[in-house]
Amino acid sequence: MSEVNFNSKAFTYAKNSLVQKSASEILLNLLSIQPGEDVLDLGCGPGHITKKIAQITDGNVMGIDISPGMIEQAVSSSQEFTNLTYSVMDAENFELPVNFDVIVCNSTLQWFQKPEKVLTRCFNALKPGGRIGVQAPATQLYCPNFVEAIEKIRMHPYTREIFKHFENPWFFLESREEYEQLFRNCGFDIIYSELRDESNLFSLEQVYKIYQSGAENGYLNQSFYKVTLTDDYINIFRELVKEAIKEQSDNSGMIDLKFKRIYITAKKQ
Ligand SMILES: C[S@@+](CC[C@H](N)C(=O)[O-])C[C@H]1O[C@@H](n2cnc3c(N)ncnc32)[C@H](O)[C@@H]1O
Repeated sequence: MSEVNFNSKAFTYAKNSLVQKSASEILLNLLSIQPGEDVLDLGCGPGHITKKIAQITDGNVMGIDISPGMIEQAVSSSQEFTNLTYSVMDAENFELPVNFDVIVCNSTLQWFQKPEKVLTRCFNALKPGGRIGVQAPATQLYCPNFVEAIEKIRMHPYTREIFKHFENPWFFLESREEYEQLFRNCGFDIIYSELRDESNLFSLEQVYKIYQSGAENGYLNQSFYKVTLTDDYINIFRELVKEAIKEQSDNSGMIDLKFKRIYITAKKQ
């Protein structure tokens, strides 16, 4: 069972996850879901992308997520959809009575502790000829802005002692070829893959919200530390990150937020 916990972010995630949302648009374009196709949204969060999918296809759409808070949010905001269901499930162990034409997995692969296990489950959950599309932040330098901010945490006298005990929870590979190999190991044929460098201008407030919607769920998660986190540590950590991000702003107060992302689509022959 994964120890990631997005419950506390369930209410704000859909609004704040600006970069995950724009990446999902690229992923959905690549997948080109057709009317009538049955689709599984793996790690669906609060369902904002799942709902988009349920507007593209009139087939059965299902969203699963390990976080009960996220699924609660997804269910309550999807009342008007008749082709959409949600369930709390761990992607590493999911089993469903039906198979899908398409599996979408946006901004979630990095949280899996056993990605091969998940992708093998996905392979089994697809109909013959079915396809999967995954988008995720990639490489240890997944977001140079956040990595630079966290370097300050690593060095700062108030945070460095506790931060020494942080164990990076994320699954990152360093090249497109390594991601392709991961998918091939699970039985897939690669349709398309690209490791993109993305860059967008955001205000400090937006960048901080983007940070909180994703990376903070790792950096300030008790499960990923061998020592107890104190309130002081959490508060100072947040202030230092905000300060470090502010230092990255240009004269007009905007920040060039960079991400490295893997986009991969693959097929079950
Ligand atoms: C960054 S959010 C992405 C949500 C949505 N797909 C999007 O693109 O905005 C990652 C989601 O993955 C879920 N998650 C993490 N590990 C999981 C697992 N093992 N099984 C199912 N969901 C998981 C989290 O609860 C969270 O909702």
